[in-house]
Amino acid sequence: MAGDGNGRRILVLPGDHIGPEIMAEAEKVLAAVDRRFELGLTLEHALIGGAAYDACGDPLPAETLARAREADAILLGAVGGPEWDGVDRALRPEKGLLRIRAELELFGNLRPAILYPQLAEASSLKAEVVAGLDLLIVRELTGGIYFGEPRGIRTLESGEREGFNTYVYRESEIERIARLAFRLAAQRGGRLCSVDKANVLEATVLWREVVERVGREFPDVTLSHLYVDNAAMQLVMAPKQFDVMVTGNLFGDILSDAAAMLTGSIGMLPSASLDAAGRGLYEPCHGSAPDISGKGVANPLATILSVAMMLRYSLSEPEAAQAIEDAVSRVLDQGLRTADIYSEGCKKVSTAEMGDAVLAALG
Ligand code: IPM
Ligand code: MG
Repeated sequence: MAGDGNGRRILVLPGDHIGPEIMAEAEKVLAAVDRRFELGLTLEHALIGGAAYDACGDPLPAETLARAREADAILLGAVGGPEWDGVDRALRPEKGLLRIRAELELFGNLRPAILYPQLAEASSLKAEVVAGLDLLIVRELTGGIYFGEPRGIRTLESGEREGFNTYVYRESEIERIARLAFRLAAQRGGRLCSVDKANVLEATVLWREVVERVGREFPDVTLSHLYVDNAAMQLVMAPKQFDVMVTGNLFGDILSDAAAMLTGSIGMLPSASLDAAGRGLYEPCHGSAPDISGKGVANPLATILSVAMMLRYSLSEPEAAQAIEDAVSRVLDQGLRTADIYSEGCKKVSTAEMGDAVLAALG
């Protein structure tokens, strides 16, 4: 672990559009728990995404990466926006995010979908289908079709263009994500569902085989398998059947957005991306939402809850983490809602008002 003797260093990467807006609220909350629990944190800031591209022509500047390597944990807002659509694909804001995940080997992406009972009305599903939902999606984050080579867009002899990508997983990559997922399942409800497309894709035939093999190390965890199409259907039909789901990068990206909506809004979902040593990058599951940026209406709770995950998983400060999660719950009890989770009878608040309310609820 890095550290300069004066405590732990957190690198804050606000990113683009609503990124800085939600991060401002998360930082207020982090500063408050730092004082209250005497965590001895030092916060530093750096650029990533479009903001970094605009400032230095690179969505992940060498300086940001160097500081990320030295930090004890990283907190990220969101990257991207239409103003960078014309930029060379290799320098798009999203590449900054994908590169930092790959460079730091943050292969284990934890995306918990928990339904706060106060938000049952905000879910697009019937309250009884989602009430009590507590699901963890474990997404492989540094492999699969996101990173597979060869990839590109080429022109065939006929003159027609063809886009291509490679869906590839090595046994060691499958093993480490499977082991992480089994370990987490063992600490939770003891049930793991592995999601693949083994009826079509060889890469996932191997995935299934390796997950089965790792499963023998965890006799107390019940393993099941689903094809991804069926998993998507089950997720919106009967989501409470799941405890932990483990899947590859692409399927995890898609299923975690679907799972997010079960909880009312993607604005509520935090995430952790961990390396083999448990060092991590924490970010909301949602994107930079250019359509609402600058309006002060974005929901900061996913980022605030990401701070809680950071305290729990990388900084071993479970009490501080719990204090934040309890404060969020209290604020929801008070009926305060940003626009994305608003329902009738509640009080609609801005990004900053929501942040301030969480601060107040922290006491
Ligand atoms: C996510 C996002 C990213 C992804 C994008 C912004 C590259 O959708 O974190 O889920 O696809 O991984
Ligand atoms: Mg996504």
